[in-house]
Amino acid sequence: MEIIIQASAEAASVVGARIVAKCVREKPGAVIGLATGGTPVALYRELVRMHREEGLDFSGVKTFNLDEYVGLGPAHPASYRHFMEEHLFAHVNVRRENIHIPDGLAADVPASCASYEEAIRAAGGIDVQLLGIGGDGHIGFNEPSSSLVSRTRIKTLTAQTRRDNARFFEAAEDVPFHVVTMGVGTIMEARQVLLLAFGAGKARAVREAVEGPLSAMVPASVLQMHGSAKVLLDEAAAAELSRSEYYRWVYDHKPVWQRF
Ligand code: F6R
Repeated sequence: MEIIIQASAEAASVVGARIVAKCVREKPGAVIGLATGGTPVALYRELVRMHREEGLDFSGVKTFNLDEYVGLGPAHPASYRHFMEEHLFAHVNVRRENIHIPDGLAADVPASCASYEEAIRAAGGIDVQLLGIGGDGHIGFNEPSSSLVSRTRIKTLTAQTRRDNARFFEAAEDVPFHVVTMGVGTIMEARQVLLLAFGAGKARAVREAVEGPLSAMVPASVLQMHGSAKVLLDEAAAAELSRSEYYRWVYDHKPVWQRF
C-alpha cells in the first residue's frame, strides 16, 4: 500500500485526478471504476477541469460504478446514476454506451449482477478503481463480515451506513436497506486501486484498514493484499496512523519517474 497524506482533501483529490488522467492518456480505452458519495466530488471536479482546459479525452473510456441502491431509478435524485450525471458524465465526453452502473431496478437481481461481472470481464477488466471508505471500513457497499472473495451481489446496509447516507435523502427513512455492489473480489481484480478518505470521521477506519490486521470485519483491510493500492488522505483522516511520518518520508523521496 502506498499512503499519500496531503494538507487538504482538495490537494489529495488533485493527486487522485492526476493518477486517473495518466491512465486515461496512456490507454485511450481505459476502464475506470467509479465511486459516489461525498469523497470523490472534488476529484471529479478536477477531471472535468482537465477535460475542459487540457483536453483530457474520455471518448474511449469505459466506466463501471461500484454500486447502486436497490429500488432507485436513474431519475431519483439520490440514485448513483443521478449523482454521476451531475458530477461527471454530463461534463465530459464519455460515450453513453460506455457507462455502466448496477441496475437498481433489475427484476432479476442475481442475473443482473452476473451480467455486470461479465461486462467488466468483456471490457478487459478495470484499470483504475476509485474507492471511498465507510466509517465502518466498508468499500463499495461491502459491509463488515462481507466475504473477501465476493462478487457483485445484493447487500444489506448497516444501520450506521443508512444514517451516514441519510444526508443525500429528503428523510432518513427514505434510505434503501438494500444495494447492489461490486464484491470485494471484484474490486481486488482492478489493476490499480485508489482509496480516498477525508475528515476526522474516517480516521479510525483508515487506521484499521491500513495498519490493522486483515479482516472481513474491516473490508478495506483486504487492500493490504492488493499489488497496487494507493490511499489518498487529508491530515484529519491520517491522524490516527502510527507510521504517518514514514509515509510522508516515502512520498517526499519518491524517485522523479514515480511522481504524479
Ligand atoms: C460509494 C461507495 C461507498 C462510499 C463510502 C464513503 O459508491 O461505494 O463505499 O465510498 O460509503 O462515502 P462518503 O464518501 O460519502 O463518505
